[in-house]
Amino acid sequence: MAAPPTDSFQGFQTNITEAKAQSTTTNGNPQSRGPSPNRGASVPDNEAAAGNPVSQKSWLSEEGIDKSKRIILRKLSHMRYQHEDLDQITTFLRDFGMKVVKKTDTERWYGGYGPDQYVYYVRQGPREFLGGTFEVESHGELEKIVTTFKDRVQTNGIEEITSAPGGGNMVTILDPEGFPVNFIHGQAEATPKQMPGKLLVNDESTKPRQRQFQRFQPGPAAIHKLGHFGLVSNDFPTLKTWYTQNFNIVPSDMLYIELPDGERKNVAMFAHLDRGQDLVDHHTLFLATLTPDSSIPHPHVHHCSFEVHDFDTQALGHQWLVEKGYKNVWGLGRHILGSQIFDYWWDTSKFMVEHYADGDLVNEDTPIGFGPAEDEGLAVWGPDVPAEFLH
Ligand SMILES: [Fe+2]
Repeated sequence: MAAPPTDSFQGFQTNITEAKAQSTTTNGNPQSRGPSPNRGASVPDNEAAAGNPVSQKSWLSEEGIDKSKRIILRKLSHMRYQHEDLDQITTFLRDFGMKVVKKTDTERWYGGYGPDQYVYYVRQGPREFLGGTFEVESHGELEKIVTTFKDRVQTNGIEEITSAPGGGNMVTILDPEGFPVNFIHGQAEATPKQMPGKLLVNDESTKPRQRQFQRFQPGPAAIHKLGHFGLVSNDFPTLKTWYTQNFNIVPSDMLYIELPDGERKNVAMFAHLDRGQDLVDHHTLFLATLTPDSSIPHPHVHHCSFEVHDFDTQALGHQWLVEKGYKNVWGLGRHILGSQIFDYWWDTSKFMVEHYADGDLVNEDTPIGFGPAEDEGLAVWGPDVPAEFLH
């Protein structure tokens, strides 16, 4: 059972506001009394949601989405990329915390310790994003994809996967922006692997760790599973509609900009898989709008993100990647939307990859939040957002 929240967000907000008000006098000089210390709390989703939240039910009805017509995705399975140098990307992905589970001369599959056969697939060739891969609910969903998206289908209909661990069947289509999206079904379940041990943590009042010392082994942060990926689009409204109308993909948070006439225009979406009452990650897919100052002037994958065990694992993994000379993009820090502790890196082909830990869980009762698309909203702590993150 999760522990009950230690505080209400109401009190949380009031205190932050009060702290601001009390930290300066009327002439703007600091008072002799210091600022209030920082605080943290696990806040219920309906209190934490930004702006004027709406229920998923009313959002779906406003958008005219017929739930019964959607293609049902079960989870995100793995990412697919093409890299020029297989050995170079393999060395990086091992340092990033993955293990090679199968290799041929031209393809490699990399796994974590989670429930998936593999979380990352590489084909040898010029640098290219080959799309995220969703596991669908049934073989019937694959058939529905082939019939629904006829001209968008890139594979020879439903293709049997003969070479990959766990097998299964796959269909690849192109979304309206031209991004490949893959769908898999029938993959054999992976054999359960050893989970990392949980650390005992002492705080000022509860000290379960008695005569036991914290000891760590340096090394990569072992990857558990793929969590999410993000796309930067030229036409956010079309892409948002396409993903939410056709699949059980529902926003968790929308980000908007305010137009000169005061109207709000949505420019980005963090979206989860609608699995009813079942708890799922706060975002599995995010879609953002390409900005004129982006260093990549065309639609592109922003990053994909993999779950690691905890904060220490992540910090040790960060240190490992620094020592190996890889290029950090942004992190460690903690996001506000989704709450994850994040750490972003460039891989050796300059695709961005992320380690995350401690992400939010949502379900169909979690309201959709609406917040301004501002850099300050990206993290509660961590280094300043570098320009290259907003590429
Ligand atoms: Fe992320």
